[in-house]
Amino acid sequence: MVEVVRASADLREVVSEYIPLKKSGLRFRALCPFHTEKTPSFYVDADKQLFYCFGCGAGGDVFKFLMLYEKLEFPEALRLLAARGGIEVPTAGAPANSDRQKVLGVNRKAHAFFREQLKGPAGAAARAYLETRGLTAGTIERFAIGYALDGWTGMKSHLVRAIGGSARDAEALAVLAGLLARKEETGRTYDRFRDRVIFPINDLAGDVVGFGGRILGEGEPKYLNSPETPAFSKGENLYGLPFAREAIRSEGYAVLVEGYMDVIALHQAGVSQAVGALGTGFTAGHVRLLKRYTDRVVVNFDPDAAGRAAARRSLDVLLENGFEVQVVALPAGQDPDLFVRTEGIEAYRERLRAAPPYIEYLTREVASRVDLGTSKGKVEALNEVLPFLARIDNPVRRAGHVEMLASVFRIEDRLVLQALGEAVRVAGLGVVGFWVVARR
Ligand code: CTP
Ligand code: MN
Repeated sequence: MVEVVRASADLREVVSEYIPLKKSGLRFRALCPFHTEKTPSFYVDADKQLFYCFGCGAGGDVFKFLMLYEKLEFPEALRLLAARGGIEVPTAGAPANSDRQKVLGVNRKAHAFFREQLKGPAGAAARAYLETRGLTAGTIERFAIGYALDGWTGMKSHLVRAIGGSARDAEALAVLAGLLARKEETGRTYDRFRDRVIFPINDLAGDVVGFGGRILGEGEPKYLNSPETPAFSKGENLYGLPFAREAIRSEGYAVLVEGYMDVIALHQAGVSQAVGALGTGFTAGHVRLLKRYTDRVVVNFDPDAAGRAAARRSLDVLLENGFEVQVVALPAGQDPDLFVRTEGIEAYRERLRAAPPYIEYLTREVASRVDLGTSKGKVEALNEVLPFLARIDNPVRRAGHVEMLASVFRIEDRLVLQALGEAVRVAGLGVVGFWVVARR
């Protein structure tokens, strides 16, 4: 199977989709994408189907190139290349008839149907809705948005037909994929997604692993997502990452937002390094995904209360995993989608540029709600911020924030430094507050 896929893809063609290659003797040459250089030492040998860089020593076959360039694991590179050549491969490590594989197959059929419906007569209201949300035809196409029919059996009948075999088995499979739900009392199945705009969720190999469905206009629940399935887990997927990875690489950071529409609106406006955590907090699974591409994140969650709590948890995870975190806080009631549409993308880019480091954001946020006129207030404020400051593992960067903290809280640098020194020593023991209070 690996050989079939390898043979389907010409290394020179694949490489030149990423970087410009120049003919050089019998080989092709380019500036190496894997290290910084001024004169090209990256070579592609089209006969041998191998690449090599004399500068950094990176080299290998077409899979290796994709793994390095796209930061993929081998199975993902295999699937990506297979998809490019129109070859169906089972997910590595899982046989062709694994549950995950079956679900991906059903998802593919369902997705095609969703897209078809959006384009057809039944999709008129959904198309109009997307227009009110400011999405262009190009964006709808790029994000492969679809529409789930109103009614209980549109998808069901389609899948039973498309999957083939016995209707019972087909329905069971569609239930496994989360596309149909089963009524407990009667055992009857029905469409999970009804009269909703459908956002497919792709993994890095390009498979549709799940769906998010938004109601047209007002109603509850506003969003309905695929349940956990053998192919989908909310905490293991970042919405938009397959579309964002190139920009994350070139910009050097990712923008982390909350919603589907936030990701899409930002991409449409040209901020393509945006990814969405789909309304959950940021998880260890998200860290694993994002770490392949960057360790700098600008978070832009809703500044409302719920958003703030979610932001806190997500920030913990990010900081603990060594991410450099900056924060964009939009005016109350705004989210990135709304902000971009009302204030314009340049205003948003300015917010990105001016996004303060997390510790500074937190310091100002604390200062805005704690009474710094009293020493009790100062202690309280310091206690809230120091644990986060102590968590920054680079001592130079940490010390750099001390002055800012001292001036915002109107405390002497010397005292902040002392408290910080202690906080670093006892970080993790949770007694930072005790120390500060005790010394005062
Ligand atoms: N979400 C969800 N289920 C809900 C509500 C929200 O899964 N019932 C997730 C969705 O991924 C959603 C994100 O949380 O995109 C943020 O939710 P919210 O801020 O309420 O919605 P928006 O993304 O702003 O949605 P829209 O702009 O479409 O109104
Ligand atoms: Mn919104």
